[in-house]
Amino acid sequence: MTDIKTNICMTVSEYAASLGGELPPEKIAELLETPADRKRGDLALPCFRLAAVLRQSPNAIAASLAPLFENAGFEKAEPVGGYLNFFFGGAKYISDVERLAKDEYPELEKTGEGKTVCLDFSSPNIAKRFHLGHLGSTVIGNSIRNIYKALGYKTVAINHLGDWGTQFGKLIVAYKKWSDSEKVKERGIDELVDLYVRFCDAERDDVSLTAEARAAFNEMEKGNEEYLKIWRYFKEISLAEYDKTYKLLGVEFDSWNGEAFCYRRTDGVVKELKEKGLLKKDDGAEIIDLSEYNMPPVLILKSDGSTTYHARDIAAAEWRMSEFGFYKCVYVTSNGQSLHFAQLFKALELMGYGWAKDLVHVPYGTMSINGEKLASRTGNVVLLDDLLEKAIEKCRAILDEKDSGVADRDAVAKAVGVGAVVFNTLSNGRIKDKDFNWDTALSFEGNSGPYVHYTYARAASVLRRAGERGGYAGYAPNSDETALISKLNEFPETLLKAAADYEPSYIARLALNVCTLYNQFYHNCRILGAGGETEAFRLALTEAARAVLGRCLELLGMERTEEI
Ligand code: ARG
Repeated sequence: MTDIKTNICMTVSEYAASLGGELPPEKIAELLETPADRKRGDLALPCFRLAAVLRQSPNAIAASLAPLFENAGFEKAEPVGGYLNFFFGGAKYISDVERLAKDEYPELEKTGEGKTVCLDFSSPNIAKRFHLGHLGSTVIGNSIRNIYKALGYKTVAINHLGDWGTQFGKLIVAYKKWSDSEKVKERGIDELVDLYVRFCDAERDDVSLTAEARAAFNEMEKGNEEYLKIWRYFKEISLAEYDKTYKLLGVEFDSWNGEAFCYRRTDGVVKELKEKGLLKKDDGAEIIDLSEYNMPPVLILKSDGSTTYHARDIAAAEWRMSEFGFYKCVYVTSNGQSLHFAQLFKALELMGYGWAKDLVHVPYGTMSINGEKLASRTGNVVLLDDLLEKAIEKCRAILDEKDSGVADRDAVAKAVGVGAVVFNTLSNGRIKDKDFNWDTALSFEGNSGPYVHYTYARAASVLRRAGERGGYAGYAPNSDETALISKLNEFPETLLKAAADYEPSYIARLALNVCTLYNQFYHNCRILGAGGETEAFRLALTEAARAVLGRCLELLGMERTEEI
């Protein structure tokens, strides 16, 4: 909360207490509104929301509260029609702009001091192409990581690679039958995908293949070096390809310990579950029964003794706790895996781990592409690389068409193109299903990444062209300016809320609102050439807007663009 809000909330809360009513400051903070019309003040308290607790009419409450703010640093606090309207006066805005332009948040950065947050995101299944389905996890996870980092948490970004499981038995059998290392080297993941598809087709007519694949995976689990060598090769080929996508997106990981790594710990998990009396035999398989909790059982060992996704996830959680002692461990996946995680968390709770409550599943909705279908070599899945490359290309064309004066159009096209895809993924609540529309995503005017990049670059350009400037202590800000300042002031609260709700969309929305208000200010108020305190103040305000927008871009995982 800003000081001014804290001040209001404390005063009102104390007033309520003096009448025997209970109104905690946080409750009051939720009631405060920013009036759309600034003639109604900079902040308003709707007193009808207090009437039930204080047993007075809204008008009476507003009237009795007003005098309490007489010498509290406000220009005035005016009771009107059941509202108490606060007018901050110029001095507060002047000091706000000074502070915002400095771009320092030492208090905020202490929020997570000494706490570690593990973030499991992206986590593709190797030997498969990186497709649109992974975009959400990669981009949302990365942004949540940035958000926690900005609050001073230590973050551990974990790529829980899907690099173990029965599918590798199939792949190895198929590889040995129909392929070789040369072919894989030449065609990369495409060869692996084709092999897998071919195997699944063949398996339908010949069940002996299924048994063969199962035996091969069993061999892998037993440590068959020949098979493991092939598997390592598949992994290397896959990672080389994913690396390109991660570089484009600017996403980095601290750990790549995925399912294969965790597999090695599953013996311990099985032993532990047995000791704790949680395992039950079921048709030859080993399960944890969750019927009491209205959930299907957790499969730990299949009837052939091979480990499962769940078993490896239990091992993963235990490893993360022992290695990092996390405060929270966050899993970002599509909402299709919600049940998997509900079961996992319940299993860990039943194992007696108090920290099971610190595991958080952050689901997101599916993403589709409207209009134009992206042709791809592997049927109708949209590959992330193709999508990003196309966005970059389209941005480059827009820059060419605008005859943009930037020195390095390629670099800007990359930042804006990739940013457009990232922003599109993050700008709506994460749980909503998203539709990717080229026109909306790449529009320089709409609620889009390019619009944010464009506004950021506009502010940067104003500052580049500015000369020396003096002070502005006596300046009286107009309503375009105060509206922008109030919005910029929302940055710290928005960051905290985005972290609490795991919602990068709050940051995206703040960025859009700042852009709208900055552009309004830019059009209505002359900056360069205004002279004196006016120019100095407007430049400082531009610096403040640029600082907040720059932080938003970074939190969302987008590059800053100093020019466009
Ligand atoms: N590899 C999985 C997939 O692509 C996602 C893994 C999520 N993380 C986890 N610890 N289970 O669907």
